[in-house]
Amino acid sequence: MLKLNLADFSLEHFMAHYWQQKPVVIRQGFEAFSDLISPNDLAGLACENEVESRLVFKEAGQWQAEVGPFESYKRFGKTGWTLVVQAVNHWSPEVAELVKPFAFIPKWRLDDVMISYATPGGGVGPHIDLYDVFICQGSGRRHWRVGDLGNHKQFAAHAALLHTEPFEAIIDVELLPGDILYIPPGFPHEGVALEESMSFSVGFRAKSACDMLSGLADFVIDKELGKTLISDPQRPIHSHQGQINTSDFALIKAHLQAVLDDKALMADFAGSYLSKTKCALDLQALEEPLEAADWVDMLADQPLIRTGGLRCLYVDATVAQGVCYVEGERFEFGAACQEAVVALCDHEHLTQDLLQTGLQNPAFVSQLTDWVNAGFWYFQD
Ligand code: SIN
Ligand code: CO
Repeated sequence: MLKLNLADFSLEHFMAHYWQQKPVVIRQGFEAFSDLISPNDLAGLACENEVESRLVFKEAGQWQAEVGPFESYKRFGKTGWTLVVQAVNHWSPEVAELVKPFAFIPKWRLDDVMISYATPGGGVGPHIDLYDVFICQGSGRRHWRVGDLGNHKQFAAHAALLHTEPFEAIIDVELLPGDILYIPPGFPHEGVALEESMSFSVGFRAKSACDMLSGLADFVIDKELGKTLISDPQRPIHSHQGQINTSDFALIKAHLQAVLDDKALMADFAGSYLSKTKCALDLQALEEPLEAADWVDMLADQPLIRTGGLRCLYVDATVAQGVCYVEGERFEFGAACQEAVVALCDHEHLTQDLLQTGLQNPAFVSQLTDWVNAGFWYFQD
């Protein structure tokens, strides 16, 4: 298993002084690190319809970007281009392992593992991201420059490439295999491959209020909630017809606030909304479905493995009723199942021991049977 090696400071120091605050280079964060997927296999993934990928290069000095799937890479030559593949942890169990060393940050904050393969001189250009990223250098060397926060002008260098103006570097380094560059949101940065190279970016995205309110609106519409109308019996005579007066404004605000104050509704919204994946999952439904007794038997000898990228969450407010949220859906198994529900969400590998309380509950067993048959969890052999 990959182990994060913070030679110069503790994890507590990293969280207190760098996380969301400033970029830092972690030399040899992964000792003896080798590519978790080969450039060839990465290029193969980018030929698949369900996989999100982009190829970035320059043509006559102009930035260009093409969106996958790709059929061939021949026309791109040997230098000056980068292939970026999103959510590779969904498709490769080896790449999914890269999420584990970052388990000190909760899953709801995780975005995905993006991998880039670059030929010498290749890069995606100077830009600013809206997420925290740990860029882990695989094979080859890359030159990285990171600028400070500031009023950096952004512009479309190509319809699919938002770039930022040249910036002064506060970090200017060459990353070698095993080195990690952590960059919080908002810091301009640019990486240029010095030779054929791979980089593995573990990204953590925070939601904006705009994203969440839009998700909340979808949620209340879907669940037919929040339908109570504003009510104003005993309304005093209004003298300015065009005015929304202070007490009416307070009434409107309180009506919306009541939705946000509904703990059960908000717990279900948070769990459902944050457990939904952005990119496709590699769900391989079993050709010959298993009966509950079959997989329960198999569990005695080997763990059930969660498919890469599947998000399973619980919320403190509802977990006592055995509630969890899997891929955007709410499941309730009852108080006796709480331990199994917590294990289901906290662990990627489920053993018989971890699931004990759930295995005694028919609803839990039946749901896990459906999940196993649909490929949400699988046995290695
Ligand atoms: C890359 O790996 O080429 C780009 C990663 C990033 O800048 O976020
Ligand atoms: Co970036």
